[in-house]
Amino acid sequence: MSFGGLVLLLFLLFLCKADCVPAGVRNNGQSSGSNDEPKPDFKEKYFSQILDHFNYNSMGNGTYLQRYLITDQYWKKGHGPIFFYTGNEGDIWAFALNSGFITELAAEQSALLIFAEHRYYGKSLPFGKDSFNIPEVGLLTVEQALADYAVMITDLRKELNAEACPVVVFGGSYGGMLSVYMRLRYPNVVAGALAASAPILSTAGMGDSAQFFRDVTADFENYSPACRDAVEGAFQKLQTLAQLQDYARIKTEFALCKTPSSSQDVHQLNGFLRNAFTLMAMLDYPYSTEFMGNMPAHPVKVACDTMLNRTDLMAALRDTVGIVYNSTGGMTCFDLYALYVECADPTGCGLGFDSLAWDYQACTEIEMCFESNNVTDMFPPMPFTEQQRQQYCARRWGVLPRLGWLKTQFWGDSLLTASNIIFSNGNLDPWANGGIRKSLSSSLIAINIAEGAHHLDLRASNPSDPDSVVKARQKEAEIIAQWVKLERLKMST
Ligand SMILES: *[C@@H]1O[C@H](CO)[C@@H](O)[C@H](O)[C@H]1NC(C)=O
Ligand SMILES: *[C@@H]1O[C@H](CO)[C@@H](O)[C@H](O)[C@H]1NC(C)=O
Ligand SMILES: *[C@@H]1O[C@H](CO)[C@@H](O)[C@H](O)[C@H]1NC(C)=O
Ligand SMILES: *[C@@H]1O[C@H](CO)[C@@H](O)[C@H](O)[C@H]1NC(C)=O
Repeated sequence: MSFGGLVLLLFLLFLCKADCVPAGVRNNGQSSGSNDEPKPDFKEKYFSQILDHFNYNSMGNGTYLQRYLITDQYWKKGHGPIFFYTGNEGDIWAFALNSGFITELAAEQSALLIFAEHRYYGKSLPFGKDSFNIPEVGLLTVEQALADYAVMITDLRKELNAEACPVVVFGGSYGGMLSVYMRLRYPNVVAGALAASAPILSTAGMGDSAQFFRDVTADFENYSPACRDAVEGAFQKLQTLAQLQDYARIKTEFALCKTPSSSQDVHQLNGFLRNAFTLMAMLDYPYSTEFMGNMPAHPVKVACDTMLNRTDLMAALRDTVGIVYNSTGGMTCFDLYALYVECADPTGCGLGFDSLAWDYQACTEIEMCFESNNVTDMFPPMPFTEQQRQQYCARRWGVLPRLGWLKTQFWGDSLLTASNIIFSNGNLDPWANGGIRKSLSSSLIAINIAEGAHHLDLRASNPSDPDSVVKARQKEAEIIAQWVKLERLKMST
């Protein structure tokens, strides 16, 4: 995904920090929670981590420094549980600062709180600036990341005299997928998992390629069918200009810095425009946020009000994407290739190092062949076939995606013999229908949040929260307390 805001943009360009996909985070914005929420006093630390968990004699014969954040301010030492966030595709601070619910829960349940950064993201770069060279990038896999977390938990428990403390993992989006996988792969280490907005089915090739942009569209259409029509109409006008090769007019209509000169540039423009809607749908929170860029409260509503505020549809579309890319109002023109980078994830990879890492993951294990088609969605047809993905990935990274591997490795939809996982999803979130929406057993519990966007439940309590998320958090808290209690019983016998 992309973000918005000139300040953030410059920050990203200079610090090479990015933001990506499902979930990703990518900006160190403070959460805008209420003032009485517990404020964690995290210490930033580094863990000497094994480079290659699966080969004793290779390039990975060594260690790297993996960053994590920890606070014991709520912990009943040696007894309270450990709440461990399985970091995803971005700087770990961004997740820690935007997952206030986990802190609230730690305060309530006297837990030790740890947020661990995913290898190859943020400051956890195994080979420094060479991390994204070939072959150095090769140690970026889901399996290595999970092994990192299992080793870190095991060692920290020893070091902190916490071996009697049950561990519960938390994650949002790709981080939620990792939480699920931790419980599947290391049930000896992890007593349960809260997986918020984790698209474990679609990313394992068990989805429908039209689903994502259909669900983005539904958010805008549900606010107002006229909004959907206006967006579709604006794209149609753009297409007409493109067919006439009236590039000068396209430049003025969309306030572009450079005049487009090819169908490739128009394709880039379409991707840039579509991505703004993706972000506003995902981040459709009831209050303003600084999570993946700056978003106003209810961005879908703001977008539709903007879209329907003028008769010139293309100008309306330009203003609407400005909510995302021009949130500070300081951008004089849009630099298409700087603001949006096309990659192996059609929902966006962000910019900077983090976007390289996510692109590589989208080129290897994580499947995201989402397409728009202008039939089930309001966007121009932008196919992204497996064949296109293969060609791109071979060229960019010298790899071929391994279709079906995540499904084989992490059980696909045959999860029945697993236990102690909460799959929470928000009905406003375009990722939701790529995840588990119905409970599979009494301990594989789906929680659907009617007015929730992308892992709203993980965010701090806020006076603007809809009832549905307040109830979801209560239920999650009860289930987690129960897991901890049962795990303690098991350990004591
Ligand atoms: C592995 O590490 C050991 C100890 O640092 C070193 O002696 C050895 O040469 C390394 N092997 C490879 C293949 O890098
Ligand atoms: C709609 O346009 C009017 C007049 O240009 C402006 O004052 C108002 O802020 C606009 N509303 C939105 C939601 O953009
Ligand atoms: C960004 O917002 C400002 C303030 O509303 C506006 O003047 C400017 O034209 C916008 N830039 C673009 C590229 O739309
Ligand atoms: C989308 O479909 C409509 C109706 O079939 C068509 O008129 C329009 O040109 C299409 N738009 C694009 C951008 O392809």
